[in-house]
Amino acid sequence: MKTALLSAFLLIFSGALFGQAFVANYDEAKMPAYTLPDPLLFNNEQPVKDAVGWTKRRAEILELFENEVYGKTPTGKVHLAFRVISENREALEGMAIQREVQLTLEKDGNTLLINVLLYLPKAGKKHPLFLGLNFSGNHTISDDPGIAITNSWVRNNAAKGITANKSVESTRGSDSASWPVRALIERGYGLATIYCGDLDPDFDDGFKNGVHSLFPGPRSSNSWGTVAGWAWGLSRVLDYLEKVKEVDAKRVVVLGHSRLGKAALWAGANDPRFAIVVSNESGCGGAALSKRIFGETVERINTSFPHWFCENFRKYNRKEEDLPVDQHELLALIAPRPLYVCSAEEDQWSDPKGEFLACAAASPVYKLLGKEGLPGKEFPDLQQPLTGTIGYHIRSGKHAINLYDWTSFLNFSDIYFAKR
Ligand code: GCU
Repeated sequence: MKTALLSAFLLIFSGALFGQAFVANYDEAKMPAYTLPDPLLFNNEQPVKDAVGWTKRRAEILELFENEVYGKTPTGKVHLAFRVISENREALEGMAIQREVQLTLEKDGNTLLINVLLYLPKAGKKHPLFLGLNFSGNHTISDDPGIAITNSWVRNNAAKGITANKSVESTRGSDSASWPVRALIERGYGLATIYCGDLDPDFDDGFKNGVHSLFPGPRSSNSWGTVAGWAWGLSRVLDYLEKVKEVDAKRVVVLGHSRLGKAALWAGANDPRFAIVVSNESGCGGAALSKRIFGETVERINTSFPHWFCENFRKYNRKEEDLPVDQHELLALIAPRPLYVCSAEEDQWSDPKGEFLACAAASPVYKLLGKEGLPGKEFPDLQQPLTGTIGYHIRSGKHAINLYDWTSFLNFSDIYFAKR
């Protein structure tokens, strides 16, 4: 009864959210039969037998995701410069250093400015660190009055007093519940975050602003979209973190929630320097299997957010069965590095079961590489994390990233970093 009510609510909610008649399926019995592509079979159907074979197969899968889902990230040298714009060495009652750093990315005379907000424990020398994009500006993650309000484009929101796509003072600290900085510092971890809109504002402008301004030129059906732009930016921040003396760049966890979780996964797949990858409720185009057609679908995401993926992804609107890849293979691209995926019970739009099954279906690749993958095949109870080289939890509650989630990421990261 409770589940039926929840489903009805989600159905109406997601339809209303996009102002269109869209009926999402929340009934396992109504899902189509589907077959997942086998990550351990080459495109020519020959089996992958060992780690050397996997390197070749990995390149095939990466190329399929580039051409059919996220788009190809342009190549070409981008020059990186940085300057510290503020520093507080007594943050969090003297426990942490809080630093804002402006990165200038320059290519062929075009520049992009991005602001990194860093927190580092004062005790100790080199720290492991979480790196993640935020939704609304660095100033929203803490109520500290020293953090600059973002100058980048933000979505208008009358309730918050944002009317001219410019953020306002009253939003300071508005997302602090998603960023428990003190808990991280107490556990010996640093944090680096940047506003996703510094890299690419989250609206469809025909790929002109943000990262796209660094790579102008004709676009094609496999040109990158915003999710790939965000992922690329995470790697540029890692380039910078490699130069920060208080950061152990070999222990950087890339993480993201929801659309920013999709970006974290694609960043982790492309950039092996990320030691651990964390996806929080990343759903469709993230950790959830597309072929299940449960919750958000390929057609729905391409319609609501036409700028997120490459044009080719639209070929699979209502044709998920034709997709040559599915999201378990995105997770497999992270192997053998530790990966943690989490879902929330009331977030059926992101298809928790589909996220869990993707972890299970990525596991044979981990096993081939001598790692455990996801332990167990049963969908776990609420608040019962599964912890192998792939970790997974589903918690009670809504679509959000909260202290329970972060505590689980910390516990997971502790295990793998202690082993080094
Ligand atoms: C929408 C979208 C999801 C996305 C989410 C978010 O619900 O449909 O794909 O993950 O926004 O980013 O919060």
